[in-house]
Amino acid sequence: MLSLNQVSKHYDNKKMRRGKPVKAVHEVSFELQPNEIFALIGESGSGKSTLAEMIVGLQKPTSGSIIRSEPSASIQMVFQNPDRSMNPYWRIKDIIAEPLILSKRKKQAALEQVSQLAEKVKLPLDILDRYPTECSGGQKQRIAIARALTMSPKLLVADEITSALDPSIEAEIMQLLLSLKDAEGMSILYITHRIETISRFADRVAVMRNGEIEALGGTNEVLFHSSSAYTKALMYACSYEDNSRDTSSSE
Ligand SMILES: Nc1ncnc2c1ncn2[C@@H]1O[C@H](COP(=O)(O)OP(=O)(O)OP(=O)(O)O)[C@@H](O)[C@H]1O
Ligand SMILES: [Mg+2]
Repeated sequence: MLSLNQVSKHYDNKKMRRGKPVKAVHEVSFELQPNEIFALIGESGSGKSTLAEMIVGLQKPTSGSIIRSEPSASIQMVFQNPDRSMNPYWRIKDIIAEPLILSKRKKQAALEQVSQLAEKVKLPLDILDRYPTECSGGQKQRIAIARALTMSPKLLVADEITSALDPSIEAEIMQLLLSLKDAEGMSILYITHRIETISRFADRVAVMRNGEIEALGGTNEVLFHSSSAYTKALMYACSYEDNSRDTSSSE
């Protein structure tokens, strides 16, 4: 549904005195398939968000091309920090309805659709009359997902959307994304640093390192059978975390 061909984003950093060019993303090529969950992992600064922003059109590649098989199909993004994309003085129903109103839908019809979307993302309906500060972090991400769904996206890009949530809420949001993928017939590009969560979630995974793709393939194949030392180190770092969690809980 979308193919990246040698996509790069380089920053020349001329303004900085000792600035060297930064190859935030360098010659990345892969295809996103319809109806798949594609996870993007890699250490901080490896270029994941830059790549995501180019895919949704928030940034332009410095070279290479991104070709969409259905140019009119909507691509929507959900961010790590929901507060930055929500007006604190608006009620939740108006926040979710905003894209519909902007696309000239009648207010009454838009609000009816909002209730349906709230059900889709399993938000209690009484939340709709509240303000963002009166919602939990998990609820705010459901609200952001509902707002993204107003545009019936063919691709949802989720950049660390569960990173600020505790693991049980994270698992619920991932479960929701799995069910929405099939119900809505969309693909999901899911960026996370919690690698331990994706093995039964993502269909495929790409590992980024210094702006390049280090490994790409079926999730279990990449996570457990990759020849890449970097990927193994990432896996070791997260299994180490798991071990430490196990020890502390048995105390
Ligand atoms: N506007 C910019 N100007 C210069 N360099 C930038 C700019 N934006 C990002 N970078 C650099 O590009 C690289 C990739 O950044 P990016 O935010 O894509 O990483 P990331 O993988 O999303 O990291 P994280 O896991 O911390 O979110 C980093 O070295 C970053 O410092
Ligand atoms: Mg990022």
